[in-house]
Amino acid sequence: MNIILIGYMGSGKSTIGKKLSQILDFEYVDLDNYIEEKEKNTISGIFKTKGEIYFRKIEKKYLEEVLILPNSVISLGGGTPSYGDNMKLITEVEDSKSVYLKASIPQLVMRLKDEKNKRPLISHLKSEEQLVEFIGKHLFERSVFYNQSNVTLSVDNKSVNSIVEEVILQLF
Ligand code: S3P
Repeated sequence: MNIILIGYMGSGKSTIGKKLSQILDFEYVDLDNYIEEKEKNTISGIFKTKGEIYFRKIEKKYLEEVLILPNSVISLGGGTPSYGDNMKLITEVEDSKSVYLKASIPQLVMRLKDEKNKRPLISHLKSEEQLVEFIGKHLFERSVFYNQSNVTLSVDNKSVNSIVEEVILQLF
């Protein structure tokens, strides 16, 4: 069985994914890291040198590869579910469950404001106000995809351990 973690940038997909995989004794796969290894470049580097359209193309290709790995917890990129038919692939892959880690706009702003450099889509935003506006609009557009997940979990003000516990309770 596979568990696929979905959510906006900064929603905790990687932290939760790592912990969950340890507890379940599953492999842990982070799609962004997988892409960086395969492409021998960072995500920011790929955006800078090849552009977002190229990134979305290879993101889909590598998504198809990771979805069929056995017994894995897979953290996707924040944008993965919202391009092409990716969400269809995610929901239709056999023996897997998708979990949307749902964080509110204020929580996302708090988590992302000091981490903009690692994230090419928000690195250009200067003020916190701009970040609030950007995330609000972007999250609204993406929610239609995120909400197709098998399970939705609110993560605001919860510890990593309690989120992991809730995921396990919901899935098993
Ligand atoms: C993106 C999110 C990033 C990464 C890329 C694009 C997005 O992943 O895939 O920078 O479109 O939201 P994280 O959600 O792990 O930051």
